[in-house]
Amino acid sequence: MSASKRLAAEKAIEYVEDGMIVGIGTGSTVAHFIDALARIKRRIKGTVSSSEQSSERLRQHGIEVLDLNQTGPLSLYVDGADECDPRKCLIKGGGGALTREKIIAEASRHFICIIDPSKQVPVLGRFPLPVEVIPMARSLVAREILALTGGQPVWRDGTITDNGNLILDIHHLDILDPVAMERELNQIPGIVSVGLFARRAADTVIVGGEPPKLL
Ligand code: A5P
Repeated sequence: MSASKRLAAEKAIEYVEDGMIVGIGTGSTVAHFIDALARIKRRIKGTVSSSEQSSERLRQHGIEVLDLNQTGPLSLYVDGADECDPRKCLIKGGGGALTREKIIAEASRHFICIIDPSKQVPVLGRFPLPVEVIPMARSLVAREILALTGGQPVWRDGTITDNGNLILDIHHLDILDPVAMERELNQIPGIVSVGLFARRAADTVIVGGEPPKLL
């Protein structure tokens, strides 16, 4: 899988233009992208990062990490995913970075998702759907998720997000209407963000392989 992830990441480098500020996601596929970006770091103005983990890797390569409040809108965001359906709707947040990822996706004109072939699914939901939750609302949110979706929320015990919150992973979902489910879950007080990227889906998906496949 690592080879496919690297091939997808290498292909995404072709979309980086001189002088760009590049939005950077989180995860093992993005780690390949960061390593490839290091080779052309003098051509870019800097990056905006979605996690402490990615920021650390960027800084180790001597790539500048900027504040989204200072940069304004971004031209390009590159990130991985846990699942991708044929409409380019995604499940993300396996690494717990979903909220910052969602913010950067929203701020970006072109969202490129880089995945290995195992992430492609006909219907989202086999991968448990992560939601970031304010700590005091954990039980309330779990009860409401159960009532609303019929899925089984499981507390990702021991995980604290970069924003100081908790993650619930919702098991046993068949997400036939990702836009509606994202909207409904977003109504529950205490949910900070939902790991469904449907309202703002990917614009381009690169599936790693020889050659990489573009969706
Ligand atoms: C991070 O929170 C996730 O959204 C990642 O984008 C996702 O888990 C991709 O992971 P890999 O690239 O490690 O497979």
